[in-house]
Amino acid sequence: MSPSEFEPVARAFAPEALGSSVRLRGWVLRSRSSGGILFVVLRDRTGSVQVTGRRDALGPEAFDAAEHVQNEGAIEVEGTVAEDRRAPGGREVRASAIRVIHSGEPFPIFVEQTEEFRLDKRHLVIRSQEHVATFRVKAEALRALREFLDREEVLEMTPPVLSGNAAEGGAEAFQIDYFGRPGYLSQTAQLYLEALLFPNERVYALTPSFRAEKSRTPRHLTEYLHLEVELAWCDLDALLEFEERMVVSVARTLAERRPAELRSLGRPPEELATISAPFPRLKYAEAIDRLAAQGFAVRWGSDLGTAEERALTVEARQPIFVTHFPREVKAFYMLRSTEDPRTVEAADLLAPEGYGELIGGSCRETDLGRLTARLEETGANLAEYQWYLDLRRHGSVPHAGFGLGIERLLRWVLRREHIRETTPFPRTPSRHTP
Ligand code: 4AD
Ligand code: MG
Repeated sequence: MSPSEFEPVARAFAPEALGSSVRLRGWVLRSRSSGGILFVVLRDRTGSVQVTGRRDALGPEAFDAAEHVQNEGAIEVEGTVAEDRRAPGGREVRASAIRVIHSGEPFPIFVEQTEEFRLDKRHLVIRSQEHVATFRVKAEALRALREFLDREEVLEMTPPVLSGNAAEGGAEAFQIDYFGRPGYLSQTAQLYLEALLFPNERVYALTPSFRAEKSRTPRHLTEYLHLEVELAWCDLDALLEFEERMVVSVARTLAERRPAELRSLGRPPEELATISAPFPRLKYAEAIDRLAAQGFAVRWGSDLGTAEERALTVEARQPIFVTHFPREVKAFYMLRSTEDPRTVEAADLLAPEGYGELIGGSCRETDLGRLTARLEETGANLAEYQWYLDLRRHGSVPHAGFGLGIERLLRWVLRREHIRETTPFPRTPSRHTP
């Protein structure tokens, strides 16, 4: 059998396939035999179908071999598509031949195993229907985001992930030995995107970011996929409108293109289809008042943690912007607000239903003097930032940008309890294998 003769499993369910002969190949989802009949559920990337094989049709040797194939073993099947009310989808393939490609060892994954064991066996666990659906939605989200950015004429850039300076505040960067000198794994591509902005005006990057925070929360990874956008001639209003268009676009595209996967993971696609702009906007000061009224021990200058973000959004069905944070709780590069100089022109976008921060964005400080002063206040090593400060010496123009955590987006969209379920090999403080 040459590869081109095989058909996708899903073809067995096409109207015209009934009564015709097919050749399929894939993996055994589960199997059992009784009374000289073998029942196998065969899966490939397009779906799964029940295959039945009778001992008299297959011959005793082939039947015995097929009967010994373990879950996740691999087989090829030749047979006829028939109607069968009891089979999932109402069809089955009656096999005339089954060829064993790999019988396999007993598959060690069962639903009732501990989370630790399942994380140790992650390389096998990711064969589950749940993970297949999750990563299809993730791939679709990445495609939808790229399509959106393409329509908006934002150009994809490829900044480095290894760097000689830590960008978002030294403490949270993974330091490495770079041939005897200190190096860092990127926490953000922002500073490089700002350099690339001047010749290109509208740029983005989709790169891994690394955070050496020992945050054992259901929304922190030490490595995550970061979509970052940087736009010239952009103020805070224009930035928030851009973010709104992007989030609406990806939510609706997922609802249109992946309804079955969304439903199987517990997110009705209709809910994503109703995400619409403008999103409610809340100033930090108002957020603090609201939280204080709810009994939170917060005051001006407090950062908003998991519990605070949750309280602000748990009843919400649309994402919410929180804007104008105090400068002390935000990064050095954020533009001071002229309205209230204690604050910066920044906004976090919080997901609905208590899922927390999806996007962090701001207008960037363009003035060399103020930028240098802020860097000094934060205790940064100025020598490391000279190249970045150069950007404010040559045609410095108003600009703004943001970063979206892809796994944070998926955690909300797919209603996952823990962010690790949105990435195949999660990196957390306690685990960097397999
Ligand atoms: O808010 P953050 O730290 O902002 C930046 O890094 C900016 N330099 C981005 C920019 O303006 N270009 O991170 C941006 C987003 C967060 O809103 C969150 O979605 C995600 O990155 N994120 C994480 N995702 C998973 N695990 C973590 N530990 C994350 N830390 C941030
Ligand atoms: Mg943030």
